Amino acid sequence: ETTLRAAAAKAGLFFGVAASPGRLSSIVAQEFNQLTPENDMKPSTIATSSGGLQNTGNADTLVNYAQSNNMLVRGHTLVWHSQAGALQGASQATLNTFIGNALTRWGNRIAYWDVVNEALDDNNTGARRTVWPHTLNRDANGDGDLFDAGDTDVIRDSFIRAKQVVQANGLSTKLCINDYDVEGLTVQGGTPNRKANALYDIVRTYRQYIDCVGFQAHFNDNPNSIISNDLQANIQRFADLGVEVHITELDIDDDLSNNDIGQGQADNYRKVVRACLNVAGCTGITVWGIADSESWRASERGLLFTGGNGNYQKKAAYTAVLDEL
Ligand code: XIL
Repeated sequence: ETTLRAAAAKAGLFFGVAASPGRLSSIVAQEFNQLTPENDMKPSTIATSSGGLQNTGNADTLVNYAQSNNMLVRGHTLVWHSQAGALQGASQATLNTFIGNALTRWGNRIAYWDVVNEALDDNNTGARRTVWPHTLNRDANGDGDLFDAGDTDVIRDSFIRAKQVVQANGLSTKLCINDYDVEGLTVQGGTPNRKANALYDIVRTYRQYIDCVGFQAHFNDNPNSIISNDLQANIQRFADLGVEVHITELDIDDDLSNNDIGQGQADNYRKVVRACLNVAGCTGITVWGIADSESWRASERGLLFTGGNGNYQKKAAYTAVLDEL
């Protein structure tokens, strides 16, 4: 095969890209068969303070483009502390209204929705973020966890709502939870990845409402999770829960100065693809942009192409991915 999408399809995966309307050059449809709006479906763009929809034009452009080019769409994202716009600090009731409006607005034109994004705290604590709406983090029966019927938990409650909407409307849209620093079983130095473990507990506990798990995979150079191959083991344990696993926002720093074991960016890309291919439940990989210069982390040069503005050149990382697929 000569394109990423053809090679991925043959291997049973989708291979996607994040994009905005201004980046829809021909390479998008040639190389990718899945599209994630990089910014245009975030609450900061499309949500009103009462959970209604506004400014859906760019999102529609992306969805229509994907549909005409036979690409899956990942909706990104419904409940997120960042780029929350008018939903910042909203009640669960308002979040639920928004979830209903967004899911029904696009229906089955969206194959996967990131219902909850980045719910877990940084620094490998395994704790929830504390910036969620005020209804959160009650522990109704005082047993120290948030998994009781009487507790209010934005993760659980958002997924329950999303699942209700999907079922009431006969949709096939799959509902995902997405996060970063959850990719490996361990973090640098072999410490257990408590954030990944917390995500695992959430998915296990709320399995009936959650269909898929996204590992963002904004990797620094030679992340422990790739070196030690525990990316694959971590994908496997989530897949064993019966959810689809996706690599949702892949970019890999090419900073060779930090490269202590002599692996390059192309090899790291190869390892990520291989880890996904090796687990049947890993059904797709999405890179977070086309060219390095257009990336949200441009200085890391973490993507598959150089160039820009529709004029792109393939990097060694591109060739490695195509070959590995
Ligand atoms: C980033 C976009 O790439 C940027 O253009 C924007 O300025 C900020 O958001 N995790 C996510 C994505 O889930 O939505 C973020 O995208 C990158 C980190």
